[in-house]
Formats: sequence, structure tokens, C-alpha cells
Amino acid sequence: MKLIFIGPPGSGKGTQAKRLASRFDIPHISTGDMLREAVAENTPLGQQAAPIMAAGGLVPDDLMVGIINERLARPDAQKGFILDGFPRTLVQAEKLDAAVGNGNDPLRVLQLLVPDEAIVRRITLRRTCAQCGAIYHLENNPPAQDGVCDRCGAEVIARADDTEAAVRKRLESFHRQTLPVATHYKAKGILKEVDGVGPVDEVFERIEQSLA
Ligand code: AP5
Repeated sequence: MKLIFIGPPGSGKGTQAKRLASRFDIPHISTGDMLREAVAENTPLGQQAAPIMAAGGLVPDDLMVGIINERLARPDAQKGFILDGFPRTLVQAEKLDAAVGNGNDPLRVLQLLVPDEAIVRRITLRRTCAQCGAIYHLENNPPAQDGVCDRCGAEVIARADDTEAAVRKRLESFHRQTLPVATHYKAKGILKEVDGVGPVDEVFERIEQSLA
């Protein structure tokens, strides 16, 4: 399965993609996680990406296409993958289509629908494990012990781009630059839309049904 997850910031792409990846035993490839790792390691890519991400903007297409091509060439991605956060612009979508869209296993695209009003609350109450990337929500899914990851015991923190101002900028980028990507795949007849509002387990069931 070669699956692309599209959805506004905070729509649950990471939450659901992690589950699906373990269900299908294929890698969950999150460009956001890859960039955050580069920032944490202070690599040249991380230094370039950090201020753009914190402000809620998009990292340049040529950098992102290079990163994803390299990742998709690795052996574990040959049996399939779930892309979370890529492609985010039409340029990225066209490059991805050219690289992997023509094999025996066609691309499938899933768009999570969550209204903007729900997004800000989800994101400002999100907490993420600094070590393993596990995702929590202070109301819906808090860690058992305050500030400590259930899975690996590391610190659970708020992401640098989870401020209200950055979320509003990310939403604006989503509407302006990423919704045209959904339209692009809809025109190809490979896009499925799934309601992303409701308990995480219910959303997961809807996703499974739409992929069946
Ligand atoms: P990225 O990390 O991809 O951020 P995003 O798209 O803004 O998505 P999020 O990670 O914020 O949300 P999500 O949809 O994964 O939701 P989650 O499951 O965590 O990218 C970050 C930045 O990197 C970008 O802004 C950009 O600068 C850069 N970047 C990345 N890719 C790029 C690219 N291709 N090109 C250019 N730049 C790029 O859930 C959110 C919260 O809601 C959690 O607290 C969760 O517990 C909770 N939740 C989840 N599901 C539910 C539910 N059903 N009900 C209630 N709460 C829920």
C-alpha cells in the first residue's frame, strides 16, 4: 500500500498514520517528524527549517522533494508506505507522482476532514514525546503521569509550532497550498475523504472501511 494522508494541521494524520502503519507493517513517513529530528540534531537542514516551522510556513519544495526521494529509496519503503505531511504543494505532488505513481501498486490518498474551529483546540492541548514522537492530548488522551511518555518514559512537551499564531498560519498554508493537492488527486479518482471528527477509534474504523 502506498498511502498519502492529507489533512489540516491537527486533523489526526500522525495519530492515525502510526496506527495504520503498525496494522499494515509499513513505514510511517512523517516529513514533520523528519524535520523536527533535523532541528533537534542542529543539522544544516534543521537550521534552515527551524524558523520557517516555528512561524508556521512551508519549507522550500526542492529541499522537501530531496528528503522524501532519499527516504522512499530505502529498503523498508519498497513494500509500501504511509506519507504524513507530504505532498503539501502541487509541485511536491507532481514530483511524487513522477517518482512512485506509476508502479503496479498505485498511490491511494486519504483526506481527513476536520473543521478549522476544532483544530486550534486540538493543537494547543497537544503534547508530544520529545524522544519517540508519541502523541497525546491533555483532555482526550493525556499521559498516565503528567509530562512523562507512557511508551518510553521521556519528557512530553508542547511543539514549538503549536502556538495559536503559528497554527493559524499553518491553517492558511493548508487552505492555500495543500487543498489544491487534494483537488489534484480527486481529479485522478484516487482520493477518499474521511470525517476526522469523533473519538480516535471511530475515526480509525472509518479509515479502515474506506481503504477496504
Ligand atoms: P507536520 O508535523 O506535518 O504538522 P501538521 O501537518 O501541521 O500536522 P500536525 O502534526 O500538527 O497534526 P496531525 O494532523 O498529525 O495531528 P495529530 O495526530 O498530532 O509539519 C510541521 C511543519 O513542518 C509544517 O508546518 C512545515 O513547516 C514543515 N513541513 C512538514 N512537511 C512539509 C512539506 N511537505 N513541505 C513543506 N514544509 C513541510 O493530532 C493533533 C492533536 O489532536 C493531538 O493532540 C491528538 O491527540 C489529538 N487528536 C487526534 N485525533 C483526535 C480525535 N479524533 N479527536 C480529538 N483529538 C484528536
